[in-house]
Amino acid sequence: MAAFKFNHEVIEKNAGLMIVLVAIVVSIAGFVQLVPLFFDKTTTQPIPGIKPYTALQLEGRDVYLAEGCYLCHSQMIRPLRAEVERYGHYSVAGESVYDHPFQWGSKRTGPDLARVGGRYSDEWQRIHLRQPRDLVPESIMPAYPWLQHEPAEAGLIQAKMRAMRTLGVPYTEAEITAAPKELEGKTKEDALIAYLQGLGLALSNIHQ
Ligand code: HEC
Repeated sequence: MAAFKFNHEVIEKNAGLMIVLVAIVVSIAGFVQLVPLFFDKTTTQPIPGIKPYTALQLEGRDVYLAEGCYLCHSQMIRPLRAEVERYGHYSVAGESVYDHPFQWGSKRTGPDLARVGGRYSDEWQRIHLRQPRDLVPESIMPAYPWLQHEPAEAGLIQAKMRAMRTLGVPYTEAEITAAPKELEGKTKEDALIAYLQGLGLALSNIHQ
């Protein structure tokens, strides 16, 4: 007992040793939490019904990133009653496996968009993007009227899909070949709406 007490004192009086030992304990705890997740299929496998974005949706996702929509909107429903009642089934990791980088976020100036797909019509989304206050008079969301005039960038879509493929998104050669045609005549607004309308559909009808 006396020896144990002595040892403890040594640690308490030696800041350097204390830092090293704390670091070791914290890293072990970190590994214990993290490592099993690498092998847990629920975090690495797509859930049933999750498909890679179509070429148009992938393009729309880039518009979403370029316009900074994520600065006001999260895409992650927490497993809390208030959230689930408002937005639908809480988000699960298997929904995000084709999202590079994922758009979970935590900043919510506007509502969470993880399950906004199908909540409104395409027409509602169009009007809302051009002038949010036409539909929600008190809205502070900026208007994005130029998106209807800018063509979707068909020139880069194949390179983008190939880049996604290197990250594990299973695009086939046929899908990549057909992609520029899918974007033909489409605007950035069309692409963004296609992206929004696909968000969270696989689980959106299940309520806890
Ligand atoms: C300055 C913060 C801000 C930015 C940036 C922003 N929004 Fe919003 N958004 C809001 C707010 C606030 C609301 C709620 C009022 C409304 O419906 O307009 C909202 C509502 C929405 C809704 C309706 C959600 C629902 O469940 O009712 C959609 C869809 C949406 N935004 C998409 C977008 C997209 C796409 C972009 C980027 C092009 C964007 N927002 C950028 C603040 C923002």
